Amino acid sequence: MKPNEVVLGVDLGTSGVKVVALNVAGQVVAEASATYPLYTPQPGWTEQKPLEWWEGSQKAILEVTQALPADAVVRALGLSGQMHGMVALDHSGEVIRPALLWNDQRTGEAVKTLEAAIPKSTLIQRTGNPPISGFQLPKVIWLRQNEPENYAKVAHILLPKDYLAYKLTGQMRAEPSDASGTGCFNLEAKDWDAEILAALDIPLAWFPQVIASDAVVGTLHDALAQSLGLPKDLPVVAGAGDNAAAATGLGISKQNPKLGSLSVGSSGVIFAPLDRAQPDPQGRVHLFCHADGQYNLLGVTLAAASSLQWLRKTLFPSYSYDQLTALAAQSVPGSRGVTFQPYLAGERTPHLDPNLRASFSGLSLANTSADMVRAVLEGVAFSLRDALEIIKPLSSLEACVVTGGGTESELWLQIIADVLNMPLHKPASEQGAAFGAAVLALRHILGSYTQEPHIVATVLPQNAAAYQEAWERYKSL
Ligand code: XUL
Repeated sequence: MKPNEVVLGVDLGTSGVKVVALNVAGQVVAEASATYPLYTPQPGWTEQKPLEWWEGSQKAILEVTQALPADAVVRALGLSGQMHGMVALDHSGEVIRPALLWNDQRTGEAVKTLEAAIPKSTLIQRTGNPPISGFQLPKVIWLRQNEPENYAKVAHILLPKDYLAYKLTGQMRAEPSDASGTGCFNLEAKDWDAEILAALDIPLAWFPQVIASDAVVGTLHDALAQSLGLPKDLPVVAGAGDNAAAATGLGISKQNPKLGSLSVGSSGVIFAPLDRAQPDPQGRVHLFCHADGQYNLLGVTLAAASSLQWLRKTLFPSYSYDQLTALAAQSVPGSRGVTFQPYLAGERTPHLDPNLRASFSGLSLANTSADMVRAVLEGVAFSLRDALEIIKPLSSLEACVVTGGGTESELWLQIIADVLNMPLHKPASEQGAAFGAAVLALRHILGSYTQEPHIVATVLPQNAAAYQEAWERYKSL
């Protein structure tokens, strides 16, 4: 690649779409984002309109191409996006109804149908995961059970970012990292599981051909080249689900199986690379395909930074986050006997139960507000440890690169390092999934390209023993 050449990465998130342009040195030279609404037509339902994704994406892509220097040449565009969603299209490729999203919880009955048709152990062994309400497959079953008139129109089922690739190129494709989050993707074969779909009487033909994450879906529609400020015939690279893309951007790959990532955003995520498709036999952590042709384990706690956000909003509205964590620092490891279970939004790992709820326990007259705030920070760390305890025996994980707003607090980061008893590395910058999508586009153009982790500081565990009693208390709850 020449110095004036760039690649674009597009991440179709839940709160908005982000687009970045990278040069050959892997530096971000332009970025833009756009938002779109999230619809909750009933409690527990979450939907977005694919055409609103498309409008937002075009806007953000155009903003980036307009910000590039006049001599810049865009060589490829890579995609990333929120996982697990269902975009249902009819025979002419038109959207049938709003997409059901990853955090939609309407599929309880559909999950039961799935469990009745296929033993849980078979699903775990073949797809890496038990039936999970947020995954795409139960959403297809929900459509059949609840909107038969819409189900009758279905000709194609796509994941969110693959819909964007379709709008850009006219081609429908999927790639393993996102497809492995549907519930009907065979991890060994790296293809749709025809037997699972047959057992459910869902047509295999609805699911697009699977290509590698750094392979090309197609080239940009001629008509879009001008309106988006992009070259004709621009290759659109399949990309990856948002977690795999973000990990790719951080340099988490098969090259170093001891290094994973840990994110403390609204939710908390531990990502561990894996060289084989070996699931937890009980399916308590997710097993997906990584974007490097291998696999990864993913542990998710649903309310991480959002637990602290909730606490602030509910009990400490006049405090800044810095003041809150300074208050927590006045307490001690173990929060003087107070335990917080962070299940404000139900829980994924290890409980897989959308109906779990949060609690404070162990309070006495002697406890202070400092103990309660610290208990929230510790409770989130304990829920991450719940995931790590399952991940460790299955992987080579020894350290993590950290991202997300929660890791900006020195105290919280130290608590997490102590509770996990694991070194945590701070990266030089946090570009997230859009950056990883651009790295995959770069990999396509250059044949091979690996992003190296750029670590600027490390937090070592200092006082793991101090949390042992509190951890046991948490576990016993
Ligand atoms: C992963 C997951 C989320 C979504 C939303 O399993 O549900 O990370 O991809 O972005």
